[in-house]
Amino acid sequence: MDKLLIEGGARLTGEVAVSGAKNAALPILCAALLSAEPVTFTNVPRLRDVGTLLALLGQMGVGIEREGDAVTLDAGALTAPVAPYEMVKTMRASILVLGPLAARCGEARVSLPGGCAIGARPVDQHIKGLQAMGAEVAVEHGYIHVRAPRLKGARLVTDMVTVTGTENLMMAASLAEGVTVIENAAREPEVIDLADCLTAMGANISGAGSDTIRIEGVPRLRGARHRIMPDRIETGTYLCAAAVTGGEIRLTGAQAASLDAVIDKLIEAGCTVRGEPGVIHLRAPSRLAAVSLRTAPYPAFPTDMQAQFMALNCVAGGAAMIRETIFENRFMHAVELQRLGADIHIDGNTAVVRGVDRLQGATVMATDLRASASLIIAGLVAEGETTIERIYHLDRGYERLEEKLAALGAKVRRIA
Ligand code: UD1
Repeated sequence: MDKLLIEGGARLTGEVAVSGAKNAALPILCAALLSAEPVTFTNVPRLRDVGTLLALLGQMGVGIEREGDAVTLDAGALTAPVAPYEMVKTMRASILVLGPLAARCGEARVSLPGGCAIGARPVDQHIKGLQAMGAEVAVEHGYIHVRAPRLKGARLVTDMVTVTGTENLMMAASLAEGVTVIENAAREPEVIDLADCLTAMGANISGAGSDTIRIEGVPRLRGARHRIMPDRIETGTYLCAAAVTGGEIRLTGAQAASLDAVIDKLIEAGCTVRGEPGVIHLRAPSRLAAVSLRTAPYPAFPTDMQAQFMALNCVAGGAAMIRETIFENRFMHAVELQRLGADIHIDGNTAVVRGVDRLQGATVMATDLRASASLIIAGLVAEGETTIERIYHLDRGYERLEEKLAALGAKVRRIA
């Protein structure tokens, strides 16, 4: 199993290009299931999660052509509207095929995702929404069976803000008969990117980016071309990595507007951050100030940046309180950070981090995607060598990570 070796102490400087967003690419690639015509996507990141989803779509009979960062999907002749457990268990976002398959094929058989390291993560809201649109749903033998000759528009109110739930229902509604209104919708930029793609395919959607999305169903969607938005979590991760090393970096292909809450916290920590169209520039002070935060749905501070900011607070001046409100078990990186000498106390969903003068390199284990990113950030400032095990988690969501870090001056290498 691959490991990452980091020799701490290098100041990150220079320029790096941000890749297309994993969390936009996954739903948007699933949108191709809604059309019988080919759809071309550009700026598709080369990630393990994208590979897993393409394999799943391929199994369903979707034609796949890949050239550089472009992927063309042709769902003209779907063979089986089925997502087996073996695929769904490795990537929960596979649930995003449920809505499109139900709408396009009138039936779907998708494995229940089950729990994952960061919490239970049920999909009841996805199911409840499809039922409200007239689908018959049965959960049997670990599979969700959906039957719906033609979905009907409905008023859907989700019990909590769910990103993939909103996306699944928006895709299903775009081919439903009549008008669907999703209330309490997720406002994440990735939801807007998906709506833009569906609109290019001929869907009739308004309100994406607000908490009320209105979709007027159309009988069919056509082929289109869509560019995936930049990855705001990858962007935030590099900003944190540069900040913690007292560095100065320029991120190109980035979108500052989708990162307001994160940039505000970096400024509060003492960084100078400038956003221009397509570019973010950050200059860090020699020592950061601790910043408290609370995760919540967009536009508040993203749970996917919580671990990285915990690492940042480990070496900042002062103490910070971090409250995680989205997932119940998302502090697993804390014990690994403690192995590097961090001073962290956890009480339920709250972590208190007291900055220490220095961390010390050690062997640590990555537990999930963003936890791995926090260990890298800590390793970049730890004294001596840090070995991060189980980095396959990182390959799920960061494109060419060690190459990009090395280009910024980090001493990092992958060993088998
Ligand atoms: C998406 C992101 C993930 C991010 C998360 C929160 C993708 C592919 N993944 O995950 O990176 O961390 O949003 O910003 O975009 N919930 C239910 N029932 C449901 C659906 C959700 O109880 O049917 C709960 C979840 O357990 C969680 C909360 O709602 O506590 C938010 O989850 P949700 O927004 O659905 O996360 P994902 O869409 O899975």
